[in-house]
Amino acid sequence: MNDGRMEKIVSLAKRRGFVYQGSEIYGGLAGTWDYGPLGVELKNNVKQLWWRMFVQDRDDMFGVDAAILMNAEVWKASGHVDGFQDPLVECKKCKRRFRADQVGENCPECSGDFGEVRQFNMMFQTQVGATDGEGTVSYLRPETAGGIFVNFKNVVDSFHPKLPFGVAQIGKAFRNEIAPRDFVFRSREFEQMEVEYFVSEGEWESAFEMWRQNVHAFNEAVGISPGSVHELEVPDGDRAHYSKRTIDFEFDFPFGRKELYGLAYRTDFDLTAHAAASRVDLSYLDDSTSERFVPHVIEPSFGVDRTVLAILSSAYTEDELGGETRTYLKFNKNVAPIKAAVFPLLKNKPELVAKAREVYLALKKLTPQIMWDDNGNIGKRYRRQDEIGTPVCITIDFDTLGENPDLIDTVTLRDRDTGEQERVAIPDLFSRI
Ligand code: GAP
Repeated sequence: MNDGRMEKIVSLAKRRGFVYQGSEIYGGLAGTWDYGPLGVELKNNVKQLWWRMFVQDRDDMFGVDAAILMNAEVWKASGHVDGFQDPLVECKKCKRRFRADQVGENCPECSGDFGEVRQFNMMFQTQVGATDGEGTVSYLRPETAGGIFVNFKNVVDSFHPKLPFGVAQIGKAFRNEIAPRDFVFRSREFEQMEVEYFVSEGEWESAFEMWRQNVHAFNEAVGISPGSVHELEVPDGDRAHYSKRTIDFEFDFPFGRKELYGLAYRTDFDLTAHAAASRVDLSYLDDSTSERFVPHVIEPSFGVDRTVLAILSSAYTEDELGGETRTYLKFNKNVAPIKAAVFPLLKNKPELVAKAREVYLALKKLTPQIMWDDNGNIGKRYRRQDEIGTPVCITIDFDTLGENPDLIDTVTLRDRDTGEQERVAIPDLFSRI
């Protein structure tokens, strides 16, 4: 399955400033990754698009940004303290640890025998405050969902929304994964974009279907190849403890078909459990029927880092252009970290540089994701921009300045995917980017 494509993506991501190993100069920290200057732009584009689509463009959605550290009672009530576990085995010989469901009979490193399988809780525990003891234990949230459920009543009290409505959150989540692997696919610190969509029990199936379609619409908007996404109906027994129905959206990553996102029907499990544990009434009053009940929940859950990896995997392309092989990222314009690059043909001609600077600053007012590049010859600049997925390059040359009077105030616009160049008047650039 993996034909070296994954290694090439990881290497490009590092070389061009998308993703670096976490704490690299100290030898790294397993399961952590740092996003570089282009990676953070790409990731922000993904998050902004999601927020726009699922919060700002809708009347039935509310955003929150809850604290990562939460009262330990939250995770007791949600079932994570007792149940958020993976099976762990330790090799008796080399002491390495593995997820029991991901290895065979013997240690893959030294062929040693494994000890007993035991359950390992994946939450990161920490102490809050200067004293020790049970009362100060807290956890880094293992899913952003917890921060949404504890704010259900706050949002209802502030906005009095009518069902169905949803609360959304984007933020970090932490899991002490036994075996972090496959680049940013499985890490110990990652980001989620989650919605808890509250419905009356009878509405759950239509809401589930609506969010199923929304997941595909989002994939299309960020440029994840639709043919590479597959729905998996998760069977009884394999679902999380809170779910009555789950679809996993799987993507054909270079290392195999794996979960990209999840869509779950969490019933009224969470609000009922939090109401019981906190002794706060989390029911909802339907004004039209005067009926009071605990809403049910549909939860689409998107991993930001897996989205970035699926986008990189979908965009990574090798082809031949002008008789040379090249590598480029065929990013959808919506997520491309740089929307256009502006070049003066020669960097030692002040009149070219001044005009190019003028165009660059004007475009930057339209979108800040514009790059200036005057390094090396034009061919090298094109290759560099192709590798970071810039959709168009704009070159200011002597014709722009009027050497050929017919072409004054026009520039060369070069397309990333075809390599084709055309002459475009400067005012028309704005509609092209
Ligand atoms: N609130 C539901 C929930 O957290 P999940 O299937 O455990 O469900 C949801 O996680 C999504 O979060 C996954 O589909 C994936 O995109 C992302 N995710 C989960 N664990 C991850 C990890 N260790 N590294 C990167 N992303 C992860």
